[in-house]
Amino acid sequence: MTTPPVCNYEGSDYQRSFWEQGGREYEDRAEAIALKRMLPASGNLMLELGAGAGRNTPRYSGFERIVLLDYSTTQLIQAQEKLGCSDQYIYVAADIYRLPFRDGQFDAATMIRALHHMADAPKALRQIQKVLRPNAIFILEFANKLNLKSILRYLLGRQKWNPFTLEPVEFVKLNFDFHPRAIRNWLGELGFSIEKTLTVSHFRLGLLKRIVPARLLAALDGFFQPTGKYWQFTPSVFVKAKNKSDSRAESASLSVIDLFKCPDCEGEKLEQNSGHLHCPICESNWSVENGIYDFRERMK
Ligand SMILES: C[S@@+](CC[C@H](N)C(=O)[O-])C[C@H]1O[C@@H](n2cnc3c(N)ncnc32)[C@H](O)[C@@H]1O
Repeated sequence: MTTPPVCNYEGSDYQRSFWEQGGREYEDRAEAIALKRMLPASGNLMLELGAGAGRNTPRYSGFERIVLLDYSTTQLIQAQEKLGCSDQYIYVAADIYRLPFRDGQFDAATMIRALHHMADAPKALRQIQKVLRPNAIFILEFANKLNLKSILRYLLGRQKWNPFTLEPVEFVKLNFDFHPRAIRNWLGELGFSIEKTLTVSHFRLGLLKRIVPARLLAALDGFFQPTGKYWQFTPSVFVKAKNKSDSRAESASLSVIDLFKCPDCEGEKLEQNSGHLHCPICESNWSVENGIYDFRERMK
């Protein structure tokens, strides 16, 4: 199966350079407020897509088990260093376009700052919908092409691409901004109903961030976030959607191995061997090393 290209974070120090040293305390706090407003208080199984170094994972502590999925093992190792290895966290290296999970298992999923890298967003969203249980909650953050700055730049003739049209814009290779209506359309076509929309990062301006303390700016952001119900002109938008389609519902799995399927042949009975999982249908082996289940490429 051919899949779209992956924006590879292998070897990246994204968490440190972008978040810890990049002056992004305001954005981090504003996202925490939005997540708190959208997350169910508790649940069994949560899937965090494009989890990175686990920046948001502690915010999902109401869930009994959290699967952190990312294509980059570097990011997952950093997440492990932060969160540790316990039964609560399951670390999975895989491609969002080729999810290694049986259908209908997760009570909730989040995808924060990762749709951003999807050249075929509808395809990625389709994979996600399949692994959710009926009525599961999906919290999606997307980068908004219809933001105030891009509208002004376009109207002043300083930007060629049109922020009002529905197609995504690739402003840097494998970095995409989306139109809010396109996101709503795709989610609707997949059988999601939108429960809540919050606009986030209203004040992402260098000068403001320098003079107003991050905590205060984030609190102000929190005040304006509910206006996302009516209009969305911020660079970041959070959507809370519910899976309304009558998809299959697995009983809450007890063992980790029961969560998985083979991403090559979709066989659902993987066998646990030392250092790898084995698919008896297509004879592929998938590495398990240092607590990371690796479904990116079958073992040679
Ligand atoms: C901008 S980072 C965001 C990380 C985290 N969600 C956060 O907000 O701190 C995007 C993450 O998505 C992951 N990613 C990108 N494309 C992916 C794909 N096709 N499958 C799985 N992960 C992917 C990257 O490895 C990276 O860790």
